[in-house]
Amino acid sequence: MAMFLFILLSLIFNNISNISALSSQPGICYGQLGNNLPKPQNSISLIKSLNSKRIKIYDTNPQILTSLKNTNIQVSIMLPNELITNISTNQTLSDQWIKSNVVPFYPQTLIRYLLIGNEIISSTPNSTWPHLVPAMRRIKHSLKKFRIKKIKVGTSSAMDVLETSFPPSNAAFRKDIAVQVIKPMLRFLNRTKSFFFLDVYPFFAWSSDPVHVNLDYALFRATNVTVKDPGSGLVYTNLFDQMVDAVYFAMEKLGFPDIRIFIAETGWPNGGDIDQIGANVFNAATYNRNFIRKVMKKPVVGTPARPGLILPSFLFALFNENIKPGPGTERNFGLLYPNGSRVYEIDLFGKTPESDFPALPPPENNEPYKGKIWCVAARGSNLTELGEALSYACSQGNRTCDAVQPGKKCFKPESIFWHASYAFSSYWAQFKKIGGTCYFNGLATQTAKDPSYGSCKFPSVTL
Ligand SMILES: *[C@@H]1O[C@H](CO)[C@@H](O)[C@H](O)[C@H]1NC(C)=O
Ligand SMILES: *[C@@H]1O[C@H](CO)[C@@H](O)[C@H](O)[C@H]1NC(C)=O
Ligand SMILES: *[C@@H]1O[C@H](CO)[C@@H](O)[C@H](O)[C@H]1NC(C)=O
Ligand SMILES: *[C@@H]1O[C@H](CO)[C@@H](O)[C@H](O)[C@H]1NC(C)=O
Ligand SMILES: *[C@@H]1O[C@H](CO)[C@@H](O)[C@H](O)[C@H]1NC(C)=O
Ligand SMILES: *[C@@H]1O[C@H](CO)[C@@H](O)[C@H](O)[C@H]1NC(C)=O
Ligand SMILES: *[C@@H]1O[C@H](CO)[C@@H](O)[C@H](O)[C@H]1NC(C)=O
Ligand SMILES: *[C@@H]1O[C@H](CO)[C@@H](O)[C@H](O)[C@H]1NC(C)=O
Repeated sequence: MAMFLFILLSLIFNNISNISALSSQPGICYGQLGNNLPKPQNSISLIKSLNSKRIKIYDTNPQILTSLKNTNIQVSIMLPNELITNISTNQTLSDQWIKSNVVPFYPQTLIRYLLIGNEIISSTPNSTWPHLVPAMRRIKHSLKKFRIKKIKVGTSSAMDVLETSFPPSNAAFRKDIAVQVIKPMLRFLNRTKSFFFLDVYPFFAWSSDPVHVNLDYALFRATNVTVKDPGSGLVYTNLFDQMVDAVYFAMEKLGFPDIRIFIAETGWPNGGDIDQIGANVFNAATYNRNFIRKVMKKPVVGTPARPGLILPSFLFALFNENIKPGPGTERNFGLLYPNGSRVYEIDLFGKTPESDFPALPPPENNEPYKGKIWCVAARGSNLTELGEALSYACSQGNRTCDAVQPGKKCFKPESIFWHASYAFSSYWAQFKKIGGTCYFNGLATQTAKDPSYGSCKFPSVTL
């Protein structure tokens, strides 16, 4: 009888812990690529004040993992891309990594997911790819050695792992990775009952083709737009479901219909560069609020291809991160500003009706920008660094800096700030068409206000 009760109780208990492990409530990605962010301990307080029960970090920062001890917050940690190749061939190294990065914190810190690298296919040379699954296996083996059972091993993928994604039923993994990388990975994920961790950004899909993709469809607010998949007959009411189902169908095609998807990142930028459409507070708040409402809905909705299935997730990101490279949107995905105040109100339970939130600023860039843009030095830039960037821009040839030479029209005022502004505009006007950006490590910024004065005319980009 006692034995029976014990089995019964542990069954119930296991079920409860399984359910809580798979809460629908989105977690938050705590990225740290900012030079103005709060200390880990204060950031964790902010995470708690947002009522988040799950966070994802991009390393194994010991201060963060220590601050999370004895909290009820589940954590996803990450093994850096650079270690994948070495770990894939060296069990000792794998064991050592787990011993120094996981064991000191587990189980007091509720580490539940360990991602082997970040978007490996998108961000590492193809020589790394064959090492991904072997590294996953070694790490899993190490966890077993240390008797750590609750941590699922996976890796995060972006949508670029797919060759085609539309219509979803026709989706397939890229030919160069399907057999060599993805199939062994799916076998591993299926065997270990882990997840396919997927980064899903309807923003990028929409903004690359805003003419043919409906914005409301991307923001989960279309009432009269549906897309029917002729292959499956399934009807889509939003872009997110369409993207996620594409991956389910692609996995099914390789023989793995049972692997669950975990949304490792989703979100919408609250700001960006002048030439970036639709990155604003209104759209960001709308997307994230509607996403939360969708996944928190009872009964669980899932997606058209997997109705009723809980879709665990992380929102990207906790903070705007000012030292992330790339276009302006990269630095503006935060729910919070670095000073901890909210960019817009958000309710991670998804219970607050839209009318109970304070009014949002109306979107002003939902149409493509038309006009001229200049690229100038950002206020407050470090002058030493600005001087180096000026030399770099001028060394890119094609007479980029002729006008700031002594005696020429833009020589005066003779300051690094002014000369750099001219050089950035001149550089960008020539090189944008071949991928040049207005960034310069954060020293440059776009402006729609013509900086030219007197007889000095700054080159511009016309959109
Ligand atoms: C990988 O191993 C090689 C050879 O032992 C070593 O030289 C290299 O520094 C290691 N790479 C990393 C990122 O640890
Ligand atoms: C494997 O890693 C261990 C620990 O870092 C190191 O001492 C050893 O030299 C590595 N073995 C090989 C073959 O690189
Ligand atoms: C890796 O990329 C290089 C250059 O793009 C290409 O030539 C090579 O075939 C690729 N190797 C594999 C295994 O895909
Ligand atoms: C995936 O795992 C399930 C059980 O967890 C098993 O029934 C199925 O055969 C596996 N699929 C493949 C293709 O290995
Ligand atoms: C959907 O409805 C909105 C507002 O009622 C309208 O402006 C829009 O043109 C409609 N879109 C389509 C595709 O019918
Ligand atoms: C926090 O930063 C934002 C953006 O820079 C600013 O608008 C806001 O006023 C700041 N809040 C506080 C409390 O300083
Ligand atoms: C400016 O940047 C240089 C080089 O990165 C650094 O050594 C210096 O401390 C910085 N100066 C200021 C005032 O931040
Ligand atoms: C630089 O100038 C050459 C010759 O005029 C031209 O062919 C080339 O396209 C220019 N490069 C850029 C980036 O504008």
